[in-house]
Amino acid sequence: MSKTLDQKWEVRSTLDVSYEIRIAPDLLNPENPTLLELPDGGTGSGERVVVLDHNLVGFYGSRIDAYFRARAVPHRTVVVSGGEQNKTMGQVFQIVSALNSAGTLRVGNPPIAIGGGVALDIVGLAASLYRRGIPHTRIPTTLLSLVDVSVAAKTGVNFQGYRNRIGSYSPPPLTLVDLSFLGTVPHRQISNGAGEILKLGLIKDATLFELLEADGPELVNNRFQHPQTARQAIGLAIADMIEELRDNLWEKDLRRVVDYGHSFSPLVEMRHVHDMLHGEAVTLDCIFSAVIALRRGHLGHGDLRRILHTARGLRLPVWHSAFGNAELLWQALSDTVRHRNGSQNLPLMAGIGRSLFINDLTFDEVATAAEHMRQVTAADVRLEAVVGP
Ligand SMILES: NC(=O)c1ccc[n+]([C@@H]2O[C@H](COP(=O)([O-])OP(=O)(O)OC[C@H]3O[C@@H](n4cnc5c(N)ncnc54)[C@H](O)[C@@H]3O)[C@@H](O)[C@H]2O)c1
Ligand SMILES: [Zn+2]
Repeated sequence: MSKTLDQKWEVRSTLDVSYEIRIAPDLLNPENPTLLELPDGGTGSGERVVVLDHNLVGFYGSRIDAYFRARAVPHRTVVVSGGEQNKTMGQVFQIVSALNSAGTLRVGNPPIAIGGGVALDIVGLAASLYRRGIPHTRIPTTLLSLVDVSVAAKTGVNFQGYRNRIGSYSPPPLTLVDLSFLGTVPHRQISNGAGEILKLGLIKDATLFELLEADGPELVNNRFQHPQTARQAIGLAIADMIEELRDNLWEKDLRRVVDYGHSFSPLVEMRHVHDMLHGEAVTLDCIFSAVIALRRGHLGHGDLRRILHTARGLRLPVWHSAFGNAELLWQALSDTVRHRNGSQNLPLMAGIGRSLFINDLTFDEVATAAEHMRQVTAADVRLEAVVGP
């Protein structure tokens, strides 16, 4: 081969990605070694960094310390704050700094992240940056993180008022799902997670929707602790997510049904970050998108009534004044279009559990659908006028 400089070289490489999501009860029982498992099946050596959501310290902090003491594994705990406002690079650097001072290896003693989606996304980003990427173990403790983040390959933090503007695709090798963590989650946060499950039911899985329609109120009341229905709903949601993500982990295909409810909501959520949770914003977007589908003849009035009834049964909002602001919704869609590389690729319901994509939504249609949504949710509009948005 000649070594002159007027040539070009092409490097091709493939990366085989696999990761496991496992239902793993009783994780904090000192007799149970699962929490310490490593990607290679070994137990490793050296100090483990445990990143814990601050709200879990009171509930589980002493059990976690007792677990490591009983198993004679050195560890240090880094406490991070959940909540969308705290999804910052500052918290990422705090974790990287702990990994550095603990002398965390490339593979041998991966950090363990225990918390909701915010803590998991922050640790995921920190682990993907430290030494250019190390494995970690992910333990979701909210319903939303259990059904959604658990399956995801993505990490991220918010930046300059935009959701997940900085992040990476970097799935941890192992996610352990222990449903008992849900026992301490506030009801509003349970409903928040139910919003993401509802999304899947609406766009992809009529069986899951029917389960939420019939048993939603009881599931939320019991914080998804009733073994049979909860496992069925969570199992269906995780399987649906895997089915959608598996062949599109790096999102080369920008027509994603799991983006249902995530077209208008990202900007709305960030504008109302103090009074609106992610799953609530997603539910409102799902309903708004359902109204668009109804107006285009893809959905019946009966379907919309069932959707509103099911959302209310899950204690989710069906109206917020932000969805009466057509300019804001259009601005949100415009940013989403940039994220989808210049196309709307807007998923809509085509009946319950079925989808189609459109690319020709207009501002006038958005404005008319916003007014239509306000009218069909009129009872909630009156309520909002009394209690504030
Ligand atoms: N990586 C992905 O692909 C992906 C997918 C979906 C969502 N997300 C992200 O997930 C985030 C939302 O996650 P979330 O709803 O879990 O929010 P969160 O992490 O802020 O948790 C919600 C609240 O619950 C508290 N909490 C957590 N576990 C608890 C427990 N067991 N008992 C009592 N309180 C507990 C937290 O301290 C927090 O106050 C968003 O930032 C979203 O972008 C990421
Ligand atoms: Zn979401």
